[in-house]
Amino acid sequence: MSTDQMRDIVKEKYAAAALRAQAEKASCCGTGAGQSSCCDPITSGLYSERESGEVPELAIRASLGCGNPTALAELKPGEVVLDLGSGGGIDVLLSAKRVGPTGKAYGLDMTDEMLALARENQRKAGVANAEFLKGEIENIPLPDNSVDVIISNCVINLAADKDRVLAEAFRVLKPGGRFAVSDVVVRGEIPSEIRRSVELWVGCLSGALDESDYIARLQRAGFDEVSVEPTRVYKLEDAREFLSGHGLDVDAIAPLVDGRFFSGFVRARKPVGAA
Ligand SMILES: C[S@@+](CC[C@H](N)C(=O)[O-])C[C@H]1O[C@@H](n2cnc3c(N)ncnc32)[C@H](O)[C@@H]1O
Repeated sequence: MSTDQMRDIVKEKYAAAALRAQAEKASCCGTGAGQSSCCDPITSGLYSERESGEVPELAIRASLGCGNPTALAELKPGEVVLDLGSGGGIDVLLSAKRVGPTGKAYGLDMTDEMLALARENQRKAGVANAEFLKGEIENIPLPDNSVDVIISNCVINLAADKDRVLAEAFRVLKPGGRFAVSDVVVRGEIPSEIRRSVELWVGCLSGALDESDYIARLQRAGFDEVSVEPTRVYKLEDAREFLSGHGLDVDAIAPLVDGRFFSGFVRARKPVGAA
């Protein structure tokens, strides 16, 4: 399947997820249709009560991430933040509050329905220092050296050309800027049935990079201070949950992925001397 075809499938899935969130039905990143996100092993329970209280309820309901990058990115007042694949906007709105009126938070997403949802959430939250941009994370519509912090929540695993995304992230970051991303990451061998599943790709799993490969790609893109820190490791029962409903032999495959998928916080820095 070509990169463009894969991107169209991802767009279709997340357009439907945005509409489901607006229709007050749960949707989710990691598991099959019809699964409630309240119990999804990947997307559930990512935000504190305090954080949930800072954004509209719809932004929480539309959340499809696998971590909480804003909590881990150590954002400071005045910084410019860019969220790659901002979805319903939860991390952009939280970032906008952290960087304050002298800073700015951009969200970038390719799916019109998600952008509409994010802008609606921004309006409800009354946040002025945020802006949602339409575009692809492979072609970021911002100038070179213009962003202090790149965040992202469970999106880079969806990109067919990850090196291109990392090169673009490097380009738009200011020298010394931080890459602070939550993503699904793999440790060890994954059965080929999983790697081949388009449904599991759009569910954030089969496109996940191996930990050492992720580190190597970031270094090749020019980043230093690269690290990957697991925030939630998926065990056998979680694997059963997210593999079911995709036409796979769950009893045979789930034990093979026990502990091999994890949500991680991926950090890196653009060197201060980099142009
Ligand atoms: C799993 S959802 C995560 C949304 C959000 N980060 C969150 O935590 O709720 C993936 C989002 O990334 C967007 N997306 C996926 N691939 C993209 C790409 N190549 N360029 C821009 N947006 C993309 C989708 O439209 C969707 O809104």
